[in-house]
Order: sequence, then structure tokens, then C-alpha cells
Amino acid sequence: MPEFPYSRLRRWPDVEAENLQAHDATDLLLVARALAEAGERGLDGTQIAVIGDEYGAVTLALTDAGLRGIRVHQDLATGRRALARNAADLGLDGFASHELDAALLDGARLVLLQLPKALAELEEIADAVARWAATDVVLVAGGRVKHMVLAQNEVLGRSFSRVQAQRAERKSRLIVASEPRPVSETPPFPVSAQHEGLTLVAHGGAFAGARLDIGTRVLLDALRLASRFLSEERSDETKGVREPGKDVLDLGCGTGALAVSYALAHPAAQVIATDRSAAAVASARATAAANGVADRITVTQDDAASEVATASVDVVLLNPPFHLGTSIHTGAATRLFEAAARVLRPGGELFTVFNSSLGYRAELTRLVGTTEQLHRTPKFTVTRSIRRP
Ligand SMILES: C[S@@+](CC[C@H](N)C(=O)[O-])C[C@H]1O[C@@H](n2cnc3c(N)ncnc32)[C@H](O)[C@@H]1O
Repeated sequence: MPEFPYSRLRRWPDVEAENLQAHDATDLLLVARALAEAGERGLDGTQIAVIGDEYGAVTLALTDAGLRGIRVHQDLATGRRALARNAADLGLDGFASHELDAALLDGARLVLLQLPKALAELEEIADAVARWAATDVVLVAGGRVKHMVLAQNEVLGRSFSRVQAQRAERKSRLIVASEPRPVSETPPFPVSAQHEGLTLVAHGGAFAGARLDIGTRVLLDALRLASRFLSEERSDETKGVREPGKDVLDLGCGTGALAVSYALAHPAAQVIATDRSAAAVASARATAAANGVADRITVTQDDAASEVATASVDVVLLNPPFHLGTSIHTGAATRLFEAAARVLRPGGELFTVFNSSLGYRAELTRLVGTTEQLHRTPKFTVTRSIRRP
């Protein structure tokens, strides 16, 4: 059989660059191991689940090898769109996408996993596999050796009795876990925590977990200092006037800390909270409900607010990512600045927090409009950009 054409895979709509590929050596190891296991154990595609398949390399290589009916879960909207597009380009179908739930794992006897960066995400996935897959399931988890830590084995060991690290090959390594342990009655995620009048609820894969990120806190403080959080609605009510509420977008909402804080401080605001991560979206929905503002916050899974209409919002709140994978790359933040510029009405405001060393001010001015520094701590800068007409 000709080798699967990995080099034809694309990351699009995720950031593309010469040094960024749509597959890696771990994908190749996972595929080789899966083909061997499927052969030895007589598995068909319907008994295989793939989790964390970034751009679809594992799912598509196995589908191409004749395994039909594979179930796949990808956390990111960008990865889901890339998989769909790569499949169409290669003329492949016959696999099904799922959330991280019972439907993904029911009856699965082989689960392939690209190890996530966060241990909490791994813990939620390991529990899900032990909870819902077949009792003879084998979980094969792979990663780049330089990103792997012993704690990953320990986390897997909480859900599986046997955990065996394999010898590294081409700077990647597989860990094989089997014999699922009994699971607790309620899943370990989501978790929640209280922060001065705000409850945050988090699934394992959500940024910062149930903690309030320092950058997020600095942005919230800056908004309060700038009197944004002295609710116009409330002060106007005392004058007998009620201003219409603003349309607000929390772009890359994570657990929804910014969206929910804004909604709590502005009772007339209508907020959209959007993120490309399914774990973030599920967390933000739960956070909105836990704080009693679910009726004013619409949470969507989307890439860079692509489904939000052009020139339709008054305020964008943004704490952008600045790590892409594990190499620092600012392309991901630029995409969100461009998205903010597109969805803001002329005169609308973008509030951004970023690591001061990144110096985004010139870029924000160019892409959005006049940008002033609202607040600066030793580590973070908060800016306000006004959308040019
Ligand atoms: C630094 S976190 C901030 C999360 C949250 N706003 C907070 O302040 O706690 C950045 C978030 O942006 C999301 N993100 C990154 N790229 C995105 C994209 N292209 N479209 C939507 N969300 C994105 C990430 O999934 C992550 O949740």
C-alpha cells in the first residue's frame, strides 16, 4: 500500500507557517501502533477512537488504511475544520466526530491519544476512557519526548492499573495504558472555584482551570479603574434614564471570566462569549449558569468569531493567547486582533491585556485604530483601542 500522503495535510484555518506542520512523528507512531493492534486483536474501525488528533493525521491515515467508522474527538474548532477540509481534499470519509462523551467511547477497544499539554485535560480524558470505553480497552497515548513529564504517567495510573512507557523513537514516545480502574460516581470535571463574587467552572482543557488568570485579573482591574464597571445602567437608573445595553464580545472566552464579570457589572449588556476550544465553551456555559447570567450570555464554539457579524458589537474583551503549541508565536493573537477589528462597530472599543514584553500597541493601532495604554503592571499591559470609522 502506498504510504499515506502526510505532507498534503494542512493546518488551515489554524495559523500556517513554514516551520509549522500539520502532522508530527507522534502521529506516525500512533498510526503504526494502531495498525499493529488492530491486526493482532482483529479490531475494526468502529472499535477505535482517536482523541486530540490535531489536524486529522491519525484519523485520516487509519481511514485511508481501510479502517471505517473511527470516532474522533478534537477540542479545537480549527482542528475540526482542518480535518474536514483535509478529508475532502483527500477524498476520504467514513469517520465520525464527537464531543468527549459516552458516544465517543462506548464499546471502544483501542483509544489513540495525542497527549494534551495540561495534566487536568489528560485527567479528564483518562477518566472518560476508563468510564465509557470497553473493559479491555487499550489507551495508546503519544507525545514529543521533550514535552513529556512523569506526572503524565501518574495521571494515567489513576485511571488504569497498567501504564507502560515505550522506548522513544524519532524523539516521540508512546505510553500504553490498560486495565481501567473503577471510576468515581461523578466525573472529576468540571471543577469550580469562587473569586470575590465570581464563580468559575472549568473542564480539564480550559485555560487556567477554575483559577482567575493573572492577566485576566489585571484586565478586570483596569476596566474597573476606567469606570467601565461603574455600571452606566445603574447610575442612569438613579437619574430616571435607562441607557440601552451594549453588545459585548468576549473573544477567546476560556472559562468565561471576562464575559460573566462584564454581564454581572452591566445588567443591560448582551454578551457573546466565544472560543475555539470545546472544553472552554462547556466551561463558559457552566460559568454563566453558576453566576445566574446564562440568559444574557450566548456561548459559541467558533474560530476567531467567524460567525459574529461584521460591525455588530460595541465592546470586545480580549486576553489573547501568545503561545502557539510550545513555541512562542504571535500569529494567533494577530488573528484575534483582526477579528476584533472586523466585528466592532466604528467607535467601538477593544480592551486587550498582554504580556508587556510583546509590545502589541503598534499592531493594535494598525489593525483596529487609536490605542492607548490604560494600565501597566510589571508584567502586563492593558490597552483600549477605538475602532476607526
Ligand atoms: C489566554 S486565554 C484567555 C481565556 C479567558 N478570556 C480568560 O481571560 O481567562 C486565550 C483563549 O483564546 C482561545 N483562542 C485561541 N485562539 C482562538 C481562536 N482562533 N478562536 C477562538 N478562540 C481562540 C483559547 O482557546 C483560550 O481559551
